[in-house]
Amino acid sequence: MKRIITILAALAFSASAFAQVHITTPTTSLVISADKGKDARYLYYGKRLSDNDLNNLSSSGTSKMNIYPAYGFNCTDEFCLSLTHADGNMSTVLKVEDVQTSQESNSVVTRIVLKDTVYPFYVTVCYRAYQDVDMIETWTEIENKEKKAVMLTRFDSACLPLRVGDTWVSHLNGKWANEARLVEEKLERGILVIQNKDGVRNAQTDHSEVMISLDGKAQENTGRVIGAALCYSGNYQLRFNSPASSYHQFFAGICPDNSHYYLDPKEVFVTPQLALTFSDEGLSGASRNFHRWGRNYKMAHGNTERKILLNSWEGVYFDINEAGMGQMMDDIASMGGELFVMDDGWFGEKYPRLNDKSSLGDWGVDKNKLPGGVAALVRMATEKGIRFGIWIEPEMTNTVSELYEKHPDWIIKAPQRDPVTGRGGSQLVLDMSNPQVQDFVFKVVDDIMSENPGIDYIKWDANMSIQNHGSQYLPKDRQSHLYIEYHRGFAKTCDRIRAKYPDVTIQACASGGGRANWGIMPWFDEFWVSDNTDALQRIYMQWGTSYFFPAIAMASHISAVPNHQTNRVTSLKFRIDVAMSGRLGMEIQPKNMTDREKEICRNAIAEYKKIRPVVQFGDIYRLVSPYEGKNMASLMYCTQDKKQAVFYWWKTETMHGEQFPRVRMAGLDPDKTYTVHELNRIDKNPLKFEGKSFTGRFLMDNGLEIPYTNNADNTFDWSSRVLHLVAE
Ligand code: DGJ
Repeated sequence: MKRIITILAALAFSASAFAQVHITTPTTSLVISADKGKDARYLYYGKRLSDNDLNNLSSSGTSKMNIYPAYGFNCTDEFCLSLTHADGNMSTVLKVEDVQTSQESNSVVTRIVLKDTVYPFYVTVCYRAYQDVDMIETWTEIENKEKKAVMLTRFDSACLPLRVGDTWVSHLNGKWANEARLVEEKLERGILVIQNKDGVRNAQTDHSEVMISLDGKAQENTGRVIGAALCYSGNYQLRFNSPASSYHQFFAGICPDNSHYYLDPKEVFVTPQLALTFSDEGLSGASRNFHRWGRNYKMAHGNTERKILLNSWEGVYFDINEAGMGQMMDDIASMGGELFVMDDGWFGEKYPRLNDKSSLGDWGVDKNKLPGGVAALVRMATEKGIRFGIWIEPEMTNTVSELYEKHPDWIIKAPQRDPVTGRGGSQLVLDMSNPQVQDFVFKVVDDIMSENPGIDYIKWDANMSIQNHGSQYLPKDRQSHLYIEYHRGFAKTCDRIRAKYPDVTIQACASGGGRANWGIMPWFDEFWVSDNTDALQRIYMQWGTSYFFPAIAMASHISAVPNHQTNRVTSLKFRIDVAMSGRLGMEIQPKNMTDREKEICRNAIAEYKKIRPVVQFGDIYRLVSPYEGKNMASLMYCTQDKKQAVFYWWKTETMHGEQFPRVRMAGLDPDKTYTVHELNRIDKNPLKFEGKSFTGRFLMDNGLEIPYTNNADNTFDWSSRVLHLVAE
């Protein structure tokens, strides 16, 4: 019988010749057979195994999938790795050389070292298993010890076998102003590919995260689900290969298209991490694992409450001036907000930024608009008792800019061709592979921050993709490295910024939700979910986004009606009740609001402050999906000690005579008794259950009957409720 290595805390050792590697988190097991000199194979991923079942695992029937299949030798199927060795040989054969484990604070890292049987070529497949949250990060380190460069043509992060059954994939897809729409499909024979080749905004269309349901179409609170998120900011590819066999094969990694990589001798290519989770509590269970891991380990300031802000974009667009900014600051301060963000339109000396056709790259203040500069605005905000934030788009320039006049060699463009332009007919992407560009981008932030101490928040935008392949910096024979080097340059720059400015809050925006991915979150506090602020459409987009990202990361703003993107008119209460399920903010011209509307918002902000820790740090339980066509949607957040919860209920369509389901709650302590209080109340009379208390058991078994309409003077067909539950 083979020896079993259970990875225990505080253990660091090398495995002996025969081993079954058992990687564990609190409730999950990943088991790999790793016999020296043999293939390393996945045996199991799922609920944590007992010692007895681990001992007998092989006899139960397991996958035979290699943990990192390589191309070219006895390999006619999909693979993780393909390359051409220095001598032209296109085959690679990897066998186990060593297994190493080490304890690193709250996680155990296992490294399975594979070596080619002929060439001095090494692939180390790594697993970081968190000991306090059910997440495993896996990535690969590819090392060339040959004498000359090796050309990598595929270099996935990882793969995983999935037993064929009624296996479904849930993933997110969309476009500008309609990001993160949920797609659910059953895995059938053939290959399903989810990828992005934008170069910059890798979440605008497909997302690099998936939920895999092993028990039929995914349910929110029941069933076995594997969640996977590729933590990368650049082009990626996820593949589900379903040959005529008992296993689907899931692969994830950098998109290899037009990105073949020359790995120099002694160089180590480190792939992005693939974060994996398993839950038998359905999609919401897997989401809770992502959220906890994200807040604790994978995002900036995941355990710090976010401020309630007003962003100027939809209020004034490019029409920036000092008095106008001051008025918006007064308004948000008077409503109880904590931060004001000036979005776009503030910069450009020779070429003032009056619209989207010029000035990116020229980050000097337009003194005609802001005679006192940014410093005066920071001072003004401080006087009004709030903080100040600013918009930049530092990776970009315009053909009409001083930067482009000085550095036409800094932009991405194909040799011998005119550059393809983007937004405004003149936008260009700077070449982040170029260290001079990295220095420039760092300096943009450094100058703004050091010249205007007190800036609390940066909205970092990115509104163009790489539309013409060509780096004027990379050598001719390394042009295929552009996509990868762009993101290495981006990462290096973000590292420098965070080293010097660890406390500033940074929002990732990329034409809306184009950068909602775990690859950027270590440097960013949050992302803008979408440029679409229509409350109804936001319910759908935020629903999908919440599969993988916690509410604290999801910027969600109250905006004006008719909505600027959809023209829809919804009630202010509805807009508030939707925005309050994420990181609450406002994106509106307050001077166009009535006193009554301001009063409603002031009240909502005060209410949000009470529930902010529940929303931003709580566990999510999605209850009724807007995608189910039940004309309503509902979710809730519960604190981890189950002493408080917030319940949301939104009507998504009004059809006279239609019946809505009575929504059963989830995540409460059945034995606790909760008092119910409605937030953002506009109804003339309180709800029947206002101030009443119910056991968690009753609320989860039966729920509460939510009236289908709001009983107020000005009601719309959109009705909604937010209930705060507090344990006695
Ligand atoms: C695109 C972003 O998505 C918007 O929120 C806004 O910041 C504009 N850019 C500003 O130009």
